Amino acid sequence: MSYQVLARKWRPRNFGALVGQEHVVRALRHALEHGRLHHAYLLTGTRGVGKTTLARILAKCLNCETGVTAEPCGKCSACEEIDGGRFVDLLEVDAATNTRVDEMRQLLDTAQYAPTRGRYKVYVIDEVHMLSNSAFNAMLKTLEEPPEHLKFILATTDPQKIPVTVLSRCLQFNLKQMPAASVAAHLARLLDAEAVPYEADALQQIGRAAAGSMRDALSLLDQAIAHGAGSVTAESARDMLGAVDESYLQRLLEAVAAADATRVLSIADEMLSRSLSFDAALQDLAGLLLRIATLQVIGASSASDEAPDAAVLPALARTLDAEFVQLCYQIALQGRQDLPLAPDEHAGFVMTMLRMLAFRPDSASTPATSAGEARKPVGSASPAPARSARDFGGDWPALVKSLTVGGAARELARNSALVAHADGMLELAVPASMGHLAEQNYRDKLRTALEQHLGRPIALKVSKGQATGTTVAEAEAGERETRRAEADRAVQGDQFVRDLVDMFDAKVVGSRARPGGDGN
Ligand SMILES: Nc1ncnc2c1ncn2[C@@H]1O[C@H](COP(=O)(O)OP(=O)(O)OP(=O)(O)O)[C@@H](O)[C@H]1O
Ligand SMILES: [Mg+2]
Ligand SMILES: [Zn+2]
Repeated sequence: MSYQVLARKWRPRNFGALVGQEHVVRALRHALEHGRLHHAYLLTGTRGVGKTTLARILAKCLNCETGVTAEPCGKCSACEEIDGGRFVDLLEVDAATNTRVDEMRQLLDTAQYAPTRGRYKVYVIDEVHMLSNSAFNAMLKTLEEPPEHLKFILATTDPQKIPVTVLSRCLQFNLKQMPAASVAAHLARLLDAEAVPYEADALQQIGRAAAGSMRDALSLLDQAIAHGAGSVTAESARDMLGAVDESYLQRLLEAVAAADATRVLSIADEMLSRSLSFDAALQDLAGLLLRIATLQVIGASSASDEAPDAAVLPALARTLDAEFVQLCYQIALQGRQDLPLAPDEHAGFVMTMLRMLAFRPDSASTPATSAGEARKPVGSASPAPARSARDFGGDWPALVKSLTVGGAARELARNSALVAHADGMLELAVPASMGHLAEQNYRDKLRTALEQHLGRPIALKVSKGQATGTTVAEAEAGERETRRAEADRAVQGDQFVRDLVDMFDAKVVGSRARPGGDGN
């Protein structure tokens, strides 16, 4: 017996069997029930969301022998032939392979003749954005004056490429991507019907990996069944997808919560040795943080997290500071974006985790310390700094001068005084009059520049208020003053200038004097 791929076998044959796309179904049902049919529909949406499927259902609705209906019988010869792909009045053209204008002309010529078997001739043009301009023009004529018996259903993943003249003559429906949860639920129904045993977690994983495409989900499921020799387990799905066991991520977050850098690093090494995808890990980590944040907002009791080991999440939701969870989420997303720039994925992942550690807020277990010595940021278990790590001895003005940062972030650095510093931590104070410079955005830029220069994650604190230290701006102002005074002195000391002063009873205007050799 030949195996029929699931996507083909389970192509929905009526509106009711479709997953999602309710907005489109509602509009089409209404049109069919009230006899208000348009002559051209355009279905847009990413791959595997039901465009071709909907076009075929609509063809049945129009040609079912029970009459034009939103509920085609599925039994008459028209319905059966359409489902079987052999209905003479349904023409499916793949524009990607038939872009030439003469092919389009030929197609449109036959469109003039009445249908042979059905009520309507239905032309489905898939990937319609691939048509040549002249082919579009040929089609436009028919779209402008369509014969009564003709219906166009255009489908595309790329509506941007369709000329407005064509767009304006179609009723457009935008199909949505499938949410992972709906995909998983659909897969479960289908496996129940196929009597294939499965673990719910496996379907969740496939649902996420399919990234919105039901077709991709179904072909992943085909693979998973083959891979798992007839059943779909979470482990084999993970294996197949190269996905990251969520327990790694939970352990990572627990280590971050405990400020245990050593453990974070050893988990990352373990992931490396299993050649897990760090990109997927950061994506899943963001997903996990989202679930934790959700728990924190709605409370553990009302949460409906069905993951098998979900008991860990409420614990993390209680331990981790809500703002810190938000921050970690940002760091995970940013880390994923930066991954291609990192020396390698493992390094990029480790750096991202270290950044989370560096930003871990003071917890109750860390006693507050005086500003002078400041808290230990990552703890003494702090990892060896990255290759290029530099030590910061406390000369803030010198550090500022070597930073590559501009704009407001540079001004923030120049106008801040160092309050305290420790391993991976800097605390600055900016005068209240320049408080606007302490904005998050500028702080982030400055922090990034500091991290780049020092070669390690930095926790940066900026408070507003008077600082005792000297800011670079002050130091520079001081230097300018000194230089000016020197220049003045040089001018005053110059014999020729002194003669001039004597002769004309003149005065040297101090501020005009400039230090410099050529005396000009
Ligand atoms: N909304 C949906 N509900 C249920 N199954 C769906 C849905 N969308 C797609 N599928 C499944 O995926 C398969 C492919 O769908 P379809 O051919 O309709 O996608 P498409 O949007 O035309 O994609 P493409 O742009 O790649 O042509 C179908 O056979 C069906 O099994
Ligand atoms: Mg299609
Ligand atoms: Zn029928």
